[in-house]
Amino acid sequence: MEAPHFIPVIETSRLSEGSGRTVEVKGRRFAVFNSAGEFFAIDDTCPHVGASLGDGFCDNGIVHCPMHGWAFEIATGACRSNPRKPVNSYPTRIVDGWLEIQVGVK
Ligand code: FES
Repeated sequence: MEAPHFIPVIETSRLSEGSGRTVEVKGRRFAVFNSAGEFFAIDDTCPHVGASLGDGFCDNGIVHCPMHGWAFEIATGACRSNPRKPVNSYPTRIVDGWLEIQVGVK
């Protein structure tokens, strides 16, 4: 098992307010968002048919999947369109201008 640890994924200057992006770290893809200056991270792969949530439209703490529009809370990963299909969310922090996300077993 992997102990929890933070890993840097993107410079915060590359993630403008209101936008999201997909980042890949050690073969895993995460969707990261800047919502009103707060940073969030969830799994990138939509549990419906696998679209990239980092490409989704993000508004008011909700990202809408670009393929069929399922809505996910970026803070918790909860799926408002299908409550049985949440994605994982990850703690974030900023260190020296980089967004870091916490991965590993909690
Ligand atoms: S693939 Fe995301 S809603 Fe269908």
